[in-house]
Amino acid sequence: MTDQATRLRQMVGTDGAVPQGGGASPSAISSAQAEAWAHVRVIAITSGKGGVGKTNIAVNLAIALRRRGCRVLVIDADLGMANVDVLLGAASRKHLLDLLQPEVGLDDVIVETPHGIQYISGGSGIEKALEYDHAEKLLLQQKLADCAARADLILVDTGAGLGRNVMDFILAADEVLLVTTPEPTSLTDAYAVMKAYSIYAAQKNLRLIINRVYEQKESREVVAKLQRAADKFLHMQVSCLGYVFEDSAVTKAVRRQTPLIKAEPSAAAARCIDALAEALITGDEMRVKRGWKGFLQQIFNFST
Ligand SMILES: Nc1ncnc2c1ncn2[C@@H]1O[C@H](COP(=O)(O)OP(=O)(O)OP(=O)(O)O)[C@@H](O)[C@H]1O
Ligand SMILES: [Mg+2]
Repeated sequence: MTDQATRLRQMVGTDGAVPQGGGASPSAISSAQAEAWAHVRVIAITSGKGGVGKTNIAVNLAIALRRRGCRVLVIDADLGMANVDVLLGAASRKHLLDLLQPEVGLDDVIVETPHGIQYISGGSGIEKALEYDHAEKLLLQQKLADCAARADLILVDTGAGLGRNVMDFILAADEVLLVTTPEPTSLTDAYAVMKAYSIYAAQKNLRLIINRVYEQKESREVVAKLQRAADKFLHMQVSCLGYVFEDSAVTKAVRRQTPLIKAEPSAAAARCIDALAEALITGDEMRVKRGWKGFLQQIFNFST
């Protein structure tokens, strides 16, 4: 009797043969594919405390980046409360884990949303990635590799906190956007993420987004506080990508399941998120180090 792992091993084959519809194996990556792998910008959006606005920022930021000509893929890696599709008003038929089925290809799991951005639901699959056997990991990696040919920028919306899976995504991404509100509990939890990141990240590239501020001054104070702590106790430089105003238009847009930046582009919070996109594109921290290839290798625990 062949179990799923055996079938997968047979599909992948000892010679790295390409399974039908499965894309190239890592040992047979074309130079064009390798080029794309390295050039995609992979950005994780995370937070210490839950409910601080990550998903709203991820979805609207993606649309703002799309308007600037960037091809964006959003991956919902929030395993507990996956809700990118709720905000996008676009349900996904299949989840990332479904790629383990031979007949499922990347086209089946990527949702093309009406907003011009692409979306993959992590479902309940990604957290198990480390437990998969080698053949399963290879197959997932092979199929996911082609994301790099479809996007210039991949935004990974993670869950909150310091769980193993969240940390895996943060550490695998080239850039991290850490969202916090000015609330003391949110700041304390954001500091905990900064601390873990400062210990484990090989290349440090973390920027803050301060959400739900009432005035710009408030955001400056929060940033200064976190920067002082990072500098003094973690010996890490932390910069700030920007802030987003507290705005009732956000909640209204969520209720309508229409991204704020589409529903009310002139709302204060929408303009702030647009400015975040501009800062992301024009900022000087754009160096791509490992790209999508490095991200997948780290997530699936493959050595380079
Ligand atoms: N700038 C803002 N102004 C007003 N309300 C906001 C703002 N940002 C977020 N919210 C409110 O906070 C809620 C939670 O936001 P969101 O789902 O994006 O948080 P999250 O960090 O992704 O949560 P989780 O940790 O559960 O994934 C939104 O539904 C909205 O009501
Ligand atoms: Mg969320």
